[in-house]
Amino acid sequence: MDKNTLDLPDEEFRDLLNKATDLVLEKYTALEGRKAFHSFEQKEIMSWFDEPLPESGIDPQKVLKETKTKVFDSATDNIGLNMYAYVMAGGSQLSIIGEYLAAAINQNLGKWHLSPGISEIERRVVQWGADIIGYGENVGGVLGSGGSAANLHGLTIARNIFFEKKGIRKKGLFNQTPFIVYASKEVHGCIDKSVELLGIGTDHLRKIPTNNDHTIDLNALTSQVDQDISDGFEPFCIVGTAGTVNTGAIDDLDALADIAEKYQMWFHIDGAYGGLASTLEPLKPKYKGLKRADSVAIDFHKWLYQTFEVGCVLVKDWDTLRRAYFKKADYLNSQLEQEGRLDFNEHTFQLSRNAKSLKVWMSVKTYGMKRIREMIQKDIELTHYLCDQIQDSEDFELKSRSDLAVACFRYKGNNNDEQQISALNEQLIPALENDGRVFITGTRLNGTFVIRACVINHRKQKKDIDYLLHIIREVAKSLES
Ligand SMILES: Cc1ncc(COP(=O)(O)O)c(C=O)c1O
Repeated sequence: MDKNTLDLPDEEFRDLLNKATDLVLEKYTALEGRKAFHSFEQKEIMSWFDEPLPESGIDPQKVLKETKTKVFDSATDNIGLNMYAYVMAGGSQLSIIGEYLAAAINQNLGKWHLSPGISEIERRVVQWGADIIGYGENVGGVLGSGGSAANLHGLTIARNIFFEKKGIRKKGLFNQTPFIVYASKEVHGCIDKSVELLGIGTDHLRKIPTNNDHTIDLNALTSQVDQDISDGFEPFCIVGTAGTVNTGAIDDLDALADIAEKYQMWFHIDGAYGGLASTLEPLKPKYKGLKRADSVAIDFHKWLYQTFEVGCVLVKDWDTLRRAYFKKADYLNSQLEQEGRLDFNEHTFQLSRNAKSLKVWMSVKTYGMKRIREMIQKDIELTHYLCDQIQDSEDFELKSRSDLAVACFRYKGNNNDEQQISALNEQLIPALENDGRVFITGTRLNGTFVIRACVINHRKQKKDIDYLLHIIREVAKSLES
């Protein structure tokens, strides 16, 4: 190693890169039959990393080897065929390459002149995000870590712009009439977090009941808004969900836009899970009203099959974003300012930011939207297939079917006793984790515990769905006996 810098001699660097590439290739050439979860004891994994801060370095080859055995070999197979938990889209090979190359040039999106090409790519990717969901032209937006960040952004912009006249950025929330955020009871927990982070407080987040299809009950919503007005609160923002995490329910976005308009509220849409599926022609009517939102959160590490992390908030124009975030700082002023240069630090709360857009840009250019749409469609069709298999079986029962790629169900075996079925399904989740061949989690629908499968991975095929049901059956039977 060169003593004057941290760099390796060229040949050594090349050799390490090649060996790292071999590790990657190994992961992607043996997907079939691989465990989704390696059930190492947490204590064991902890012990591997129980090491003091190194004062002297070691051979990078050794570090790479350790990375293979301790990290790669124990990694949860989020990229693989047997992952159904949460919303784990598996990533894509082009996004790996984009991420690698982005790290190599170490651009900083804070200022245009620190990342000319990447700044323009991010501007383009933001517009592509808007194009995918049909949100409009010359849309403003910024990439962030994912859906949670994009929703926090949306609500921050909402608060800063909606209360601009009250000078909320300067005065804060002190002495404001409490203002209210509305969302269905199925809204993602990141909205609760956002409301807390923004100082609005969850007492001012109204969780509105849902209909049988898990979409927001519009009558209950308007009654609640009227009640709040008569109680002296200020209605502020409606959060519609375009694909709930539990069941993929898409709220009636057009009706929500009408209500937001009538009561003069900000309309934000959480499209983190389902927003990008609005690109599918048959689903378009379900998303009517999406383009009327003041802000939308979409998530590229979900249905654009990107590696973690990358999400995006969209607003109707760049000026809105700038008004929400711009702060002057002497050290950021440059004599090189030119008309049209987009300094992203003026449009978000981060200053330094990495080139998340490169992997998105490379992926979308390589695959093209037609193929990406086909993959989203396939995920949805596989979910329908899963639902059909469950419905046709004697020992499973379907609890929710959606237009998107998520299904909730229970294993019941020969059992008719509600309590026993419930207990068995609750035991199944840890038993399946322990088994490790498939990775699936549960949730509650109206208080009932259910197994939840999210089929969002372009690598999956029908045989993988059959395998999922086969493994659940097998593990459940072993529990029953
Ligand atoms: C509807 C919805 N909103 C927000 C999020 C949070 O997204 P992230 O995990 O990217 O922060 C998710 C994640 O699954 C989601 O499904």
